[in-house]
Amino acid sequence: MRKINVAVLGASGWMGRVHTMAYQSFPHFFGTDGGTARVAALVERNPDAAAGLQALSPEARIYQDWREAVADPAIDLIDICLPDNLHYDVAKAALLSGKHVFCEKPLAETAAEARELADLARDKGLVTRVGHAFPRNPVHDLARDIIRSGEIGEITLFKGCQHVDMFGDPAAPFMWRADGKLAPTGIVGDTGSHVFSFMAFLVGRVSAVMADNIIVTPRRPVVEGASLGQGDGSVTAYADVTNPDATNMLCRFENGASGIVDFSRVATGRKFRQAYEIYGTKGSIAYDYDETNRLRFYSGADPAGRCGYREIDVGPEHSAYRAFLPLANFALGYNEMKIIEAAEVIRSVATGTPMWPTFDDGYHISQIVDACMRSSALKRWVEIDLA
Ligand SMILES: NC(=O)c1ccc[n+]([C@@H]2O[C@H](COP(=O)([O-])OP(=O)(O)OC[C@H]3O[C@@H](n4cnc5c(N)ncnc54)[C@H](O)[C@@H]3O)[C@@H](O)[C@H]2O)c1
Repeated sequence: MRKINVAVLGASGWMGRVHTMAYQSFPHFFGTDGGTARVAALVERNPDAAAGLQALSPEARIYQDWREAVADPAIDLIDICLPDNLHYDVAKAALLSGKHVFCEKPLAETAAEARELADLARDKGLVTRVGHAFPRNPVHDLARDIIRSGEIGEITLFKGCQHVDMFGDPAAPFMWRADGKLAPTGIVGDTGSHVFSFMAFLVGRVSAVMADNIIVTPRRPVVEGASLGQGDGSVTAYADVTNPDATNMLCRFENGASGIVDFSRVATGRKFRQAYEIYGTKGSIAYDYDETNRLRFYSGADPAGRCGYREIDVGPEHSAYRAFLPLANFALGYNEMKIIEAAEVIRSVATGTPMWPTFDDGYHISQIVDACMRSSALKRWVEIDLA
């Protein structure tokens, strides 16, 4: 059993806390045969937040500069939970110093950067992973099994969406997510990349994109200390929103299927909606995060007069579900997906085995993000180079 020393960067943020919890938790569910993790360093720039970290992870060194973790010879794996604009620089520095890297999405700001990171990792023989945890819910393994078995035939159409309303209210405070310098692709890299990860996981590579990116609220109030609902509410200034709030997109897949996709952070009333429908020549499947462990499956092979969508709740027949719960429909949630992801990341590093989504997979998702940005700017279809 190998113990992997992990540094979590951005440790006091949402993802930093979730990743730390996931490393500390996963052996309770997945055992230790695939290796274990020691949270050996936590990096947090915010000094007040950093001060509280030691008690939560007594074994960890606490750093305020990510470069210290990258230079720490004791660290095997750098886990990047920092704002999007830092991902490329930090991942590159980590790979150059011989560390395995787990990077939250989006992997980089451009596909060219993502390609460089994927190539660098391969040259160095290092394990990589991008934080697309949603498809690691075992319900999507079931969806992929059904697709691969041929039960829905050739895929003809993917329809997908992801909607939140964090910026639905025009008075919602400005934050880094709306700043084109800190998050250059806005909703496309942030939320679109999740939908793209489902497309890549379930359907295949995308060959062309036609997208319309929209800024719905061009200016937002700046509220000191605001982060997802925090802050004392005092408005100090207004800032321009410089990246897209929402996107409507058509696409073509390499295998001939087509796609209709939309994602938004201004979908007022939708706290979190994620859904897809996949139509094939013999059947179809449908998923909605509101029923997080349930897949709907229509088979054209059912007898005439008996055809209809059946609801399948993933249960203990699926090993990743069984790891947590002995009975179906008790439901795995977001944090369990991140625990599954952490177990896979550590197994991947401990055994030197790449597991989806690696930086190579992240590169294709970055290509779709790029194509989406270019298509919207050029107001036309953009082809993706799949060579
Ligand atoms: N996979 C998912 O489902 C998912 C969900 C949310 C966020 N994310 C991604 O995770 C990343 C982090 O998002 P978040 O929501 O946790 O953000 P957050 O704002 O909650 O946390 C970011 C943390 O990084 C710290 N930080 C910022 N700059 C730093 C620096 N230079 N050095 C050290 N610490 C620094 C901040 O103080 C903060 O604690 C983003 O890239 C985001 O896209 C992924």
